[in-house]
Amino acid sequence: MKNIFDIRGKKAIITGGSRGLGRGMAQGLHDAGVELVIMGTNEKVLNTAKEMSTADAPVHGVMADFKDTENVIKAFDKAIDILGDIDILINNAGIQVRHPSVEFPLGDWEDVLKVNLTSAFVLSQKAAKIMIDKGRGKIINVASLLSFSGGLTVPAYAASKGGIAQVTKALANEWAAKGINVNAIAPGYMDTDNIAAIKEDEARNAQILARIPAGRYGTPEDMIGTVIFLSSHASDYIHGSVVLVDGGWMGR
Ligand SMILES: NC(=O)c1ccc[n+]([C@@H]2O[C@H](COP(=O)([O-])OP(=O)(O)OC[C@H]3O[C@@H](n4cnc5c(N)ncnc54)[C@H](O)[C@@H]3O)[C@@H](O)[C@H]2O)c1
Repeated sequence: MKNIFDIRGKKAIITGGSRGLGRGMAQGLHDAGVELVIMGTNEKVLNTAKEMSTADAPVHGVMADFKDTENVIKAFDKAIDILGDIDILINNAGIQVRHPSVEFPLGDWEDVLKVNLTSAFVLSQKAAKIMIDKGRGKIINVASLLSFSGGLTVPAYAASKGGIAQVTKALANEWAAKGINVNAIAPGYMDTDNIAAIKEDEARNAQILARIPAGRYGTPEDMIGTVIFLSSHASDYIHGSVVLVDGGWMGR
């Protein structure tokens, strides 16, 4: 029987690939035989790429700060120069900034929206131009539990992740018939730098762990099965879905 999960030899770009969930997904795709460009803000991404790279599944690093949208465009063009093509785009880069909404600085609002949402839209547009010509492609956005609820003191993040869920559906509606699958993964509480502030607050940490049916935080490795599924032929009829990887949180 043909392996419908086989993605060997595909070419992918993953933003924010040097640490956390992006690093986990990059490792999973690399182990599955995908050639990768991982993007990150500093030289660490170049070192990570060098460490992961093998002859049969090369990994390349590209540095870019998505707070400036011009950098997003340049980074994509550089990645395509390296890869020559793109089959899979994973929009994973994301930042969190916390302030009470009444005093949330506009500069932080704009940075969060640019990194978390605008970069994903711009990269999807650029990737789709190539994918539409080929009649196939996979775009996977990283959403959040805050694609569904508003949180506290994180209005920009909630707006960006609500936007990610909506743009996933909007792009899927236009591109599904062109052979492109646009979907999102919504992680729950995952043990990365992104939730460092929560883990430092003992009471909050205990409350959250008690509410997760799985009884533990997720890990970067918990993302791998879903990202391979959404990158492969196995998900060819799935369009505009936001797939929860949350230890059961949303069902509670
Ligand atoms: N950890 C969680 O609990 C959790 C839950 C839901 C969603 N997410 C989402 O998962 C994604 C990955 O987060 P993580 O938990 O691995 O956090 P992380 O802080 O470990 O990683 C964030 C990544 O984004 C990249 N990034 C940050 N600022 C950037 C910028 N200015 N320009 C370009 N890239 C930038 C970094 O290079 C890094 O690789 C994010 O979109 C985040 O919102 C995380």
